Amino acid sequence: MDIKRDRCRSICGEDSNFIAKASRIHYYPLAVKRAKGSVVEDADGNEYIDFLSSAAALNTGHAHENVVNAMKKQLDDFIHYTTAYMYNVPQVELARRLVQITPGDFEKRVLLGLTGSDANDGAIKLARAYTGRRKMVSFIKAYHGSTFGSLSLSAISLNMRRKIGPGLGDVHHIPYPDCYRCPLGHKKDECSMECIKQLEDAFENFLPAEDVAGVVMEPIAGDAGIIVPPVQYVRRLHELCKENGILFISEEVQQGFGRSGRWFGIEHFGVEPDIIVMGKAIASGMPISALVARKEIMDSLDAPAHLFTMNGNPVCCSAAIATIDTISGEGLVERSRLLGEYMMEKLNEMKEKYEIIGDVRGLGLSIGVELVTDSSGERNREAATKISYRCWEKGLILTFFAGNVLRVQPPLVIEKDEIDRGLAIMEEAIQEYVRGDIPDSVLEESKGW
Ligand SMILES: Cc1ncc(COP(=O)(O)O)c(C=O)c1O
Repeated sequence: MDIKRDRCRSICGEDSNFIAKASRIHYYPLAVKRAKGSVVEDADGNEYIDFLSSAAALNTGHAHENVVNAMKKQLDDFIHYTTAYMYNVPQVELARRLVQITPGDFEKRVLLGLTGSDANDGAIKLARAYTGRRKMVSFIKAYHGSTFGSLSLSAISLNMRRKIGPGLGDVHHIPYPDCYRCPLGHKKDECSMECIKQLEDAFENFLPAEDVAGVVMEPIAGDAGIIVPPVQYVRRLHELCKENGILFISEEVQQGFGRSGRWFGIEHFGVEPDIIVMGKAIASGMPISALVARKEIMDSLDAPAHLFTMNGNPVCCSAAIATIDTISGEGLVERSRLLGEYMMEKLNEMKEKYEIIGDVRGLGLSIGVELVTDSSGERNREAATKISYRCWEKGLILTFFAGNVLRVQPPLVIEKDEIDRGLAIMEEAIQEYVRGDIPDSVLEESKGW
């Protein structure tokens, strides 16, 4: 392809001379220069439709004018004064909104942080403090972040454990209920929730339920490949928690703020979590995270158990307030649901045509397209790598995770014609892969998640 990418390649080369490799998952050399709505421009002036939204962090799209204006106004007033010691209006206003939009008709409190990772650390602290227990339960293949607490909850990459010493300990990982790849070998229609029995067995045999402080579950497993659990599973898990005095923690860093067609993913399951963990899209790209929990849970920790000099930064809070108001005002939750249905329909049509598409699943605009070698269902990492790379070459930002699952999470403001153009590029790339037109050299360059 004769598109100019010299500047991007040179930035990427320079980057590797200075930036530590521990913080990079390389797909292709896209150096961002500008972005607006659902379109990103690279340093060479090429434009891309964005099906990634900066890893589901930009539900309102790039540089939404409401968010930009709110931040500019706050910048003119003041940038920051540590909220560990002093108070500010944007922080209170943001907390008020978070209490309003989160499920659960009970008194709540909000704890702000900086990233999804530290919010998960906070959730562990709260669960331990409130219950007086130490153990946590989370899921195999989950990604919860890179701080010591959140990486201990995670179970997705040995590189998050190798060489860095023991994690938190006391975390028990169980399989996520993945009906496409049932860890117990069952078919969807002949399943009687044996997977939840695994936890019940654990409680009966080696994991005393009275030692467990909390269960951390993503309502849709994100980096595990957009896996939507059965409703009965989530309800039974919630019941098990209630029966045993264990806190149910809904980890919504990736699925929150309208991504799944509801404000929070857990609302699809009719369950009221004790703690909700938020990050990413909360402030349209500004670094801030939040925990919302029952008041009595929050009251179990005293200062300075969880505070940061920069948390509740008023510019970030203003961005978050504008984000929430925009999601409400522009009906983006419903838009996510409707556009998600549209995309699922189109992707399912593709599934009928191409054997390498094994599964299409998701809720709202959080969709995974699982690529396989053939009807055996073997994971096809090569296809995911080559297809996403070719999409980039053709003007679509698309990545993959879980090795072989294409990640479809565009901004919720994306226009239908942008979706259509993006899907057309995806289909062309799939056809080129099937014809063997994408060279193996791509596999050397693109590593992926
Ligand atoms: C579900 C989930 N939790 C937590 C995190 C960590 O968030 P952050 O990278 O903001 O620390 C991520 C990031 O990808 C995530 O997807």
